[in-house]
Amino acid sequence: MTSLSLLLLFSLLLHQPPPISAAKSPPLFPKESLPTKSGYLPINPTTNSAIFYTFYEAQKPNSSLSKTPLLIWLQGGPGCSSMMGNFYELGPWRVSQTPNVEQVALEPNSGSWNRLFGLLFLDNPIGVGFSIAETPEEIPRDQDGVAKHLFAAVTAFVGLDPSFKTRPIYITGESYAGKYVPAIGYYVLKKNAQLPPSKQLNLAGVAIGNGLTDPATQVATHAVNAYFSGLINDKQKNQLEKLQDEAVELTRKGNWSAATDARNAVLHSLKNMTGLATLYDFRRLIPYETSLVTKFLSPPEVKKSLGVSESMVYEECSDVVGAALHEDVMKSVKYMVEFLVKESKVLLYQGHCDLRDGVVSTEAWVKEMKWEGIEKFMEAERKVWRVNGLLAGYVQKWGSLSHAVVLGAGHLVPTDQPVNSQAMIEDWVLERGVFASEQVGDVCLGFQGEI
Ligand SMILES: *[C@@H]1O[C@H](CO)[C@@H](O)[C@H](O)[C@H]1NC(C)=O
Ligand SMILES: *[C@@H]1O[C@H](CO)[C@@H](O)[C@H](O)[C@H]1NC(C)=O
Ligand SMILES: *[C@@H]1O[C@H](CO)[C@@H](O)[C@H](O)[C@H]1NC(C)=O
Repeated sequence: MTSLSLLLLFSLLLHQPPPISAAKSPPLFPKESLPTKSGYLPINPTTNSAIFYTFYEAQKPNSSLSKTPLLIWLQGGPGCSSMMGNFYELGPWRVSQTPNVEQVALEPNSGSWNRLFGLLFLDNPIGVGFSIAETPEEIPRDQDGVAKHLFAAVTAFVGLDPSFKTRPIYITGESYAGKYVPAIGYYVLKKNAQLPPSKQLNLAGVAIGNGLTDPATQVATHAVNAYFSGLINDKQKNQLEKLQDEAVELTRKGNWSAATDARNAVLHSLKNMTGLATLYDFRRLIPYETSLVTKFLSPPEVKKSLGVSESMVYEECSDVVGAALHEDVMKSVKYMVEFLVKESKVLLYQGHCDLRDGVVSTEAWVKEMKWEGIEKFMEAERKVWRVNGLLAGYVQKWGSLSHAVVLGAGHLVPTDQPVNSQAMIEDWVLERGVFASEQVGDVCLGFQGEI
């Protein structure tokens, strides 16, 4: 062998890939972190449009599975994917990224909402996330359209397993799901009344986090909220109030598209005046890193693991769906919550550092609710709420209506307070602790000594 061929051989050897076992990088989506089930639920028999879902069975069910509650999570937007909730907020595995490492990894979430309950994420409406809209015309343009599709999808899901039929269903969601959650809840109650028991859905309650529900009332609260938080001065408060009045006036006139634009102008000005990184949490120096979810879900291998076609392009939020629902934004669904609070149970919770759909914004429409219990609710004690002895927030409850303020959290409550958000949802569903039906003494408030 010449020295040249030796050199060639050497360089070839050097460029050989190392043996398979050493080269094989760990799977992007390890088996133990896969959902129990995932795939597509049809929304009507005549099209291929379908809602994408991921389902995680309860980790430690405290009852037989046929009695274990089922939580459904709906993301907001309009147009954002529930995979954000799944992999960045309340699912059992959340994305994390080590600095200087390209790959996004999954880490167990100690505050997952599927500890005691089954947890179903739906990419809603069609056209969102991995959900399929066969034609753009099929994407709903109002809440009744959204609810019809959701009803079909949830019915199909319940049909997947005989034990699902009897499980109590709680519909939960965040932000623009402050519209979707009441809409599907209301639709289920109305529809159940016309259906034989075998076709009804077993709705047990609804929960809304940092929701947009009665937009005209809510848009009018930004100026005072920011002013009394010390984030804007009196002159800026007046400027903001003018913009708010325009949004309210356009809503009153039913000029829906312009009303949505006017609300956006309010939020844009507030952001501009305060210079904050995000209105979702006034404490944050950088926005929530939800783009990590997109990064995680983009490789073909990951899509394949979830039963998604490799040709599907995942977007955190769909502009097409956002546009379809543009005229829906300022329409109120408060009357649906009023119906739900009479016929079911309702939890409204807000992370207290949110400047978009926060505590003041929610309380403004709650106190205007047409419900025979509202005066008693307004008079009910706002209890100090502790988790493991530490201050977690405040809970006010009367009858079927509960309101929780989550301290140390912005718009994405489960991201910021995983364990407290888990305690909140478990205690609300199971009606214990501060959410107990009967008035209980201080024993439930936990450790209260001096420290
Ligand atoms: C499970 O249920 C029992 C009986 O209802 C209750 O005492 C216990 O606290 C529950 N455990 C959890 C983790 O909720
Ligand atoms: C709606 O409001 C916009 C902005 O003020 C205005 O230009 C438009 O003419 C209004 N449309 C109707 C139908 O009143
Ligand atoms: C707010 O808007 C004004 C006028 O468009 C601009 O000059 C200013 O830089 C903006 N301020 C911030 C903090 O973005």
